[in-house]
Amino acid sequence: MNNPAPNTLPLRGENIIAVASGKGGVGKTWFSITLAHLFARAGRRTLLFDGDIGLANVDVQLGLTTQYDLGSVFSGQRLMKDCVTHYEQGKFDILAGRSGSTSMASLGAARMQPAAEQLVALAAEYDYVIIDLGAGIEQHVQVMSALASKVIVVLTDEPTSLTDAYAFIKLCVTRENPPAIHVVVNQAASQKEGESTYAAINRATENFLKFSPQLLGVIRKDNKVKDSIRSQTSIIDKAPHTTAASDVATISIKLMKKE
Ligand SMILES: Nc1ncnc2c1ncn2[C@@H]1O[C@H](COP(=O)(O)OP(=O)(O)O)[C@@H](O)[C@H]1O
Ligand SMILES: [Mg+2]
Repeated sequence: MNNPAPNTLPLRGENIIAVASGKGGVGKTWFSITLAHLFARAGRRTLLFDGDIGLANVDVQLGLTTQYDLGSVFSGQRLMKDCVTHYEQGKFDILAGRSGSTSMASLGAARMQPAAEQLVALAAEYDYVIIDLGAGIEQHVQVMSALASKVIVVLTDEPTSLTDAYAFIKLCVTRENPPAIHVVVNQAASQKEGESTYAAINRATENFLKFSPQLLGVIRKDNKVKDSIRSQTSIIDKAPHTTAASDVATISIKLMKKE
């Protein structure tokens, strides 16, 4: 009698991972692409969803021209499954966002609901769905992140990144059915520096939220990241053994171990 009716349960996919940051410019999109590529290399059927509605750039970082994007899904013109682009080089699928579409960023939760339902249904066709969330904690970011059973918060040692990541974690933790929350420290000068950045966010969440997110990994600063983005090529194709790529590989293995 105390169980809620099934249709009141929050919509969520067990295999959906949301990549969040709070602050923009920390490397969230680059990390999402690299993780998707590594999952695909390991034989996992992977979909990368560009949830940075309004500032979409998965396709830009990969130099990909897509026929359809999420704009037509949110406007109800097309079904999400018909807008999937296969990224042949990486052997994973992409749902491209639409850059510069500011109206998208202000979509209300009600208008996002059909797309959210379609994404959860589509997730059944994949081993992993990675959502590259938008920056900030606006409603569309919250709606998309609520679909994930796992959230990876990417942060750097910049004070604004830490405060914004804290705000995002607080939102997740205080939700009725919180997802598993992991932290990835990016652009770290060293593993040790990365760990101390994690310690700083962990201190804040322990003190104020009585919650400790897991450190999923540290990604070191590496000039090859900029090079690969500039040449619109995945780092897994351009420099698979470089420091930052191998740090993401360690993270991908850790995630696959939990399968
Ligand atoms: N590990 C790293 N080492 C060096 N530079 C990085 C690293 N990760 C990201 N960057 C830099 O950060 C910039 C922003 O990355 P992006 O993925 O677009 O961030 P976001 O999606 O968080 O806005 C990239 O252009 C790249 O130059
Ligand atoms: Mg981005």
